[in-house]
Amino acid sequence: MVQLMGSGDLMKFRCVGCSDAFEWNGMPELKCPSCGDLFEWMADKHVSTGSLLPPPQDFTMWRYAAMLPQIDEGGIVSLSEGGTPLHYAESIGEVAGVDELFIKNEGKNPTGSFKDRGMSVALTAAKAYGVKVAICASTGNTASSMAAYCARARIQSIVLVPRGKVAKAKLKQCAAYGATIAEIDGNFDRALELVKQAAGLEGVAIMNSINPFRIEGQKTGAFEVCDQLSSAPDWLVIPVGNGGNITSYWKGFNEFRRMGVISSLPKMMGVQAEGASPIVQAFDGQLETVKFVNDPETDATAIRIGRPANWKRALAAVRESGGAAISVTDREIKSARKLLSGKEGMLIELASASTIAAVLRATSKGLIRKGETVVCVATGNGLKDLDVDIEFTTSTVSTIEDISALIGTI
Ligand code: F0G
Repeated sequence: MVQLMGSGDLMKFRCVGCSDAFEWNGMPELKCPSCGDLFEWMADKHVSTGSLLPPPQDFTMWRYAAMLPQIDEGGIVSLSEGGTPLHYAESIGEVAGVDELFIKNEGKNPTGSFKDRGMSVALTAAKAYGVKVAICASTGNTASSMAAYCARARIQSIVLVPRGKVAKAKLKQCAAYGATIAEIDGNFDRALELVKQAAGLEGVAIMNSINPFRIEGQKTGAFEVCDQLSSAPDWLVIPVGNGGNITSYWKGFNEFRRMGVISSLPKMMGVQAEGASPIVQAFDGQLETVKFVNDPETDATAIRIGRPANWKRALAAVRESGGAAISVTDREIKSARKLLSGKEGMLIELASASTIAAVLRATSKGLIRKGETVVCVATGNGLKDLDVDIEFTTSTVSTIEDISALIGTI
């Protein structure tokens, strides 16, 4: 018999058919011994109002509104972004040899990525300034986030994406939110060049991370990490594509440090895929400027970027913080993603899993040490990014013997 935590009235269940009450004892058949109907638990019978938690305050990132550009509060364009969990990844920490490894689960945002923080602020500003059409270049997440916030703000949206290099789920999100989708025969960098030219068009606004409101919204991720840990971590490990998010986090940490909320700054670890790693090459080569990569390639399509628009601030974040820029192979990224989903029950985007791969590398090189607190930013939900990677087989069953045999194989 399974030993249960609760007992007495708290573990009494009532049959929905005959109303008999039973003490829960595992009851594997899940049906009433008297009449065969189902059980239900009656919370209001056993729980006093005094034991309820107080109603939640604002858990969205807008609790940091004072730290954001002061745009008309009544007009905030929000889908309840931010307030994402900081997951203590004990099992991965054990594998990596780090005592305190956390994952900031940004996949829990309304459209499944960190972009929602920036988009909420950027679309709030756009609405206040009377923008008619929002436009962006994207590897998928910026596009789907912008499309959602445009729907909310009643602003038209056009997304430019590299043909064949965006995860299908992200395109379907865009379509669902009513965006106009345009494909380009070229990569993200080419799409962004084109989008920048649209800046002169009447009533049109660009929503990529060259838009400063995006950076402001995304810095709230750093505020939350500090509040969740009651300090800054030793390392903040974050994927780098266009370089906007690492810029945002570094800005957020610095603001909290200057205000005295935290007493130290983290070391920033920027992570790129090996085939799209201009920032890492500049860091390794101690270069003043970044040499762009003309044909970036990686299965982590979200960060398939060779000409990061925010390269200057991204590189500065790594250098000023005494951190590092690290590249990882697609193979390492895929195996890190599998490790995380299999050991922690958390499925994240390939781009996001690059951070776990980087921690594994950094610990083996002695760059991250056992006693340090490490936060990996899981930038996107894995459900968005299942076109490549993750193979599976199925079994066919028709009898209870088949199921027994199957249980014998696991
Ligand atoms: N992780 C994910 C899941 C992303 O979608 C991106 C960027 C990044 C990390 C990198 O962030 O660009 O601020 O350095 N995606 C952009 C897009 C390019 O269009 O969705 P960054």
